[in-house]
Amino acid sequence: MNLQDAIHSRRTAHSWTNEPVNQDILERALRAAQMAPCHRLTWPWRFTLPGPVARNALYELGVQLKAARRAEQPSEALRDRLRQKLLHPALVVVSQVLDEDLDRQNEDYAACACAIQNLSLSVTADGLHSKWSTGGLTRHKETYEILSVPQDEERIIGFVWIGTPARLPNEPERLPLEQVVRSVP
Ligand SMILES: Cc1cc2nc3c(=O)[nH]c(=O)nc-3n(C[C@H](O)[C@H](O)[C@H](O)COP(=O)(O)O)c2cc1C
Repeated sequence: MNLQDAIHSRRTAHSWTNEPVNQDILERALRAAQMAPCHRLTWPWRFTLPGPVARNALYELGVQLKAARRAEQPSEALRDRLRQKLLHPALVVVSQVLDEDLDRQNEDYAACACAIQNLSLSVTADGLHSKWSTGGLTRHKETYEILSVPQDEERIIGFVWIGTPARLPNEPERLPLEQVVRSVP
């Protein structure tokens, strides 16, 4: 697959088969992420690969958070739905090393976003799909503890799920190019 094909076929998937992700694909994707640019060579990204114990703890926390948001006890249906979302795909947790300087932090966030895009394009080129997710689970204090990410030094900026989608959503309608490109004399 050439680069243009990968860019145009990369899609955010929301549901996954339980087909395991080939470790070579994952390693290639991490190497691609590591090739992202960063201003002043700060190398601000960190990738945490949770093993089975951490994955299960994240799943349990995810179930509790979702049930609490609905003000109900976790049902078997909820557990099954989240099992499929949180336990089937491979997971790369991306965090940003926090610089004291706020301008540097902004630029480092941009660099981390480039790294995530490289990672996503790499898995797309290898026939898989991905999802960058953020929310209650990625921001929760317990998530940092489960993953041993030092909360005073790094910020988790996304969970990147990788796998074979059970189905892909329809392509979201994008703004026409003329609406986002401005030519000035
Ligand atoms: C910073 C960031 C955070 C995101 N967080 C979520 C999320 O929490 N849940 C989700 O379903 N999609 C999330 N997405 C994916 C977007 O919803 C998705 O990219 C958008 O719908 C366009 O679809 P596409 O990726 O298939 O082009 C996130 C994307 C970015 C860049």
